[in-house]
Amino acid sequence: MTTRAVPMADVRDMYMAHTVFRREFGLMPELVRGVAEGDTARSEVVGAHLDLLCRILHSHHEGEDAIVWPRLQERGGREAAEIVPTMEGHHRAIEAILRRLGTLAPAWRATARGGAQVAEACEDLLVVLVEHMAMEEKEILPLAEKYITAAEWKGLGEHGVNSFSKRELALAFGLVMYEGDPEVVGQVLLEMPFPVRLLMPHIAPRAFAAHARRVHGTAVPPRAGRM
Ligand SMILES: [Fe+2]
Repeated sequence: MTTRAVPMADVRDMYMAHTVFRREFGLMPELVRGVAEGDTARSEVVGAHLDLLCRILHSHHEGEDAIVWPRLQERGGREAAEIVPTMEGHHRAIEAILRRLGTLAPAWRATARGGAQVAEACEDLLVVLVEHMAMEEKEILPLAEKYITAAEWKGLGEHGVNSFSKRELALAFGLVMYEGDPEVVGQVLLEMPFPVRLLMPHIAPRAFAAHARRVHGTAVPPRAGRM
């Protein structure tokens, strides 16, 4: 492949996505534990938040499975051959925990009973996820910058956009914007269609602030702080 004339992936948006996961999944176990037994109004709020974050994570990994791993395997030679199977293993482990949550969380959300098991599953998820993201940032992103084109990389964002309703998209973008580097946020916005591009910077932070107030009790929840 000739890489000289073709712009290669700008992977900074991946750090922004990971920051969302670090922050929100980092806060999740305590959030779940904080729901009193039988308080179904609260379990509905936290359960909906957990469901959304799990779907964002699932879609994020689906995109990587479809776009990133195959191209690195194809083009990255030994460097990729060593690390990609580890990444795929992490994804399988994470998917297994997401399935466990898919079984446990809806019942807890509806009844506010059985929260301890949901919180434990969230803790297990956090352990694998944190390790996975750190390794991905260290080992995979440098390879992506080398072997994946900017156009291909954009497919990750498109996959994400297509996975959610417009309303969820505004909130998802608000989750990103909260700690996102404004320059990188601006670049991601440039990829969006015209009206969305103009509206998103106004709608998304508001959607996030309202959501965070409901879920975290504040519009400014603790930041993960790693960009
Ligand atoms: Fe990732």
